[in-house]
Amino acid sequence: MATVSALRGDVVTFKADPFLNSPEDCMVYIPDAVVVIEAGKITDLGPASEVLARLPQGVTPVHYPDAIISAGFIDTHIHYPQTEMIGAFGEQLLEWLNKYTFVAEQNFAAQAHAEHVAGVFLRELLRCGTTTAVVYCTVHPQSVDAFFGESQRFNTRMIAGKVLMDRNAPPALLDTAQQGYDESTQLIKRWHKKGRQHYCITPRFAPTSTQAQLDVCGTLAREHPDAYIQTHLCENLDEIKWVLELFPERKSYLDVYQNAGIVRERSVYGHGVHLTEEDFCTCHETGAALAHCPTSNLFLGSGLFKLFDAKNPARPVRVGLGTDVGAGTSFSQLQTLNEAYKVAQLNQTRLNAIQAFYLATRGSAEALYLDQQIGTVGIGFEADLVILDKKATPLMAFRSQFSKDINETLFLLLILGDDRAVRATYVAGQKVYDRDESGEQFRYAVAE
Ligand code: GUN
Ligand code: ZN
Repeated sequence: MATVSALRGDVVTFKADPFLNSPEDCMVYIPDAVVVIEAGKITDLGPASEVLARLPQGVTPVHYPDAIISAGFIDTHIHYPQTEMIGAFGEQLLEWLNKYTFVAEQNFAAQAHAEHVAGVFLRELLRCGTTTAVVYCTVHPQSVDAFFGESQRFNTRMIAGKVLMDRNAPPALLDTAQQGYDESTQLIKRWHKKGRQHYCITPRFAPTSTQAQLDVCGTLAREHPDAYIQTHLCENLDEIKWVLELFPERKSYLDVYQNAGIVRERSVYGHGVHLTEEDFCTCHETGAALAHCPTSNLFLGSGLFKLFDAKNPARPVRVGLGTDVGAGTSFSQLQTLNEAYKVAQLNQTRLNAIQAFYLATRGSAEALYLDQQIGTVGIGFEADLVILDKKATPLMAFRSQFSKDINETLFLLLILGDDRAVRATYVAGQKVYDRDESGEQFRYAVAE
């Protein structure tokens, strides 16, 4: 029989989309709650005054005072091989790719290097409370094996794939249309739906794939309808101009992908900073999602994502939150929300705390069609949880005394918080990271 465990703290979670409904009606806030977990799932939840009395004998909740229990954060766009070149100075997208990114990614031909970086990367995600991510590996299949191998040891629900590129990159990073098809097919067989792993068909972006290779991605997408697709879209003005030169017969950048058959449910497009109303309608109609990556868009000077246009209730687009490390400057979804707030300000809009935390949890789960499993603290959901310390730093401890309600407390967490505010991270009910552990802070999952 699986063991029962329990956590105690203030629960914050969401039952609907606060961009489409009154935000206050979407948040579920249970002060001093108990979350009961069995076999990786939440089996009971409610105020401690009620749940404590019905806990099985011998179960004592792990108590986190001054903390919020939230669904683990979900990062819908990130590159694990770029961990070693985060914070590369001075360039915008196309120069940045050539000068830094394509150099670092060549290191992943060596499996040992890939395994080392995958280990650092996954620990950094868990240290920031992120329990699911949509991840670019490199063109090398061994980079995917290294990543999923480490994810399996932590039992994290991850979505990842091998990059396909058959032009406009260094020769050492190129495959061919056929090789991209064959290697992706083998990796899908090896990893897709193995435990909590999901495969993602990953053409890097239109400029680095020929029409033949994009067509191969469309074939893979049809052959594996429950696999994911990820690529980049309308991030930077020079990039968009280049795409229209490379595909003169297509009416827009998104049309290049639609023509290849890779715009559908479970497609995740990074950025979408410069989309038209027609593009938003296409995303809405097809069920494709956008990953909003504010720290990256500011760092590379790409532009300001129009979040409230994307989420227009007349034709809402599924939007998740992405760090886009290494163009993004933080693994922390709290810091990513901090920048999302500022991007919204520069667009003359206001991202409130309820909308922000929804984006990082349930909203991203909805973008990935995983909202029945993750992204919510609720009975029947997988117990991927983050414990957020409201008093993580001296300034947060001081400032929190003056907070008048949960809205303000959440806003302070995203403005002042970062990895230091993550007290612990749970994956399928098991604690895999503990900030205050004096010895090893990380622990692989154990078979139950
Ligand atoms: N477009 C194509 N490749 C990349 C990448 O690695 N990062 C970002 N931010 N944009 C891209
Ligand atoms: Zn990216």
